[in-house]
Amino acid sequence: MRIGFFDSGIGGISVLNEAIKHFPNEDFLYYADTRNVPYGTKTKEEVNKHVQTAVEDILKQEVKALVIACNTATSISINELRSTYDIPIIGMEPAEKPAIKLSSSMDKRVLVCATDLTLKELKYRKLITRIDKDSIVDPLPLPELVEFCEELNFNWDELSPYFSSKLEEFDLNQYGTVVLGCTHFPYYKPILKKLLPPHIHLIDGNKGTIERLSNLLKEKDLLSQNGINGISFQCSNQDKNYIIKMKNALKVLKMH
Ligand code: DGL
Repeated sequence: MRIGFFDSGIGGISVLNEAIKHFPNEDFLYYADTRNVPYGTKTKEEVNKHVQTAVEDILKQEVKALVIACNTATSISINELRSTYDIPIIGMEPAEKPAIKLSSSMDKRVLVCATDLTLKELKYRKLITRIDKDSIVDPLPLPELVEFCEELNFNWDELSPYFSSKLEEFDLNQYGTVVLGCTHFPYYKPILKKLLPPHIHLIDGNKGTIERLSNLLKEKDLLSQNGINGISFQCSNQDKNYIIKMKNALKVLKMH
């Protein structure tokens, strides 16, 4: 049986790409909610409604586990999804904890880039878990980056001024880590590596998420031996051109 991956758009393909490397004997179903992308600029209630509808749609087919390959959807809907469905549901591993550890050891700060909605939820989470004891985490919403990504726009001449304008208010020498807290953002790692000072570490939650998926599949004895890395790309508005876009997005990530 396949492993399902879900995101608002092509962002979750950055998580799928890790899974492909990790599981040579698995097959995958990737589903993008193209009817409602982007999620990050909508209300919490709207996003939750879209996520529940999309997951219902995905689970009409057989999947043995589902990865919510979207930080925004995870922060809003993961609890409700887990209480509704019996299959293992894996959300995006928040990477703030390792980032705080790493930055603290360098006596530096953490910059968390994500959607507006994730950052609102993050603020809330920060308050309740108090992981940011020394207040070294600063948020940076990058909603436009989701749109650039959905257009498969990785053009240095357009993107470098965009990042520079977003980063100009921060003294980058004070930062040790930049967290990519949206699955659309790892596409921009090559550009960010060129732009940021070399001491800054770029951290995303993709590897951690796939490791947790792997542990869960082992624990539940759900690992396949006979899959062939087959991928079925699907989207909520059945747009054939978007299926081509998803395949091209995976090629871009494979070139990194
Ligand atoms: N890829 C998503 C995330 O990780 C959401 C982007 C969006 O739809 O705004 O947050």
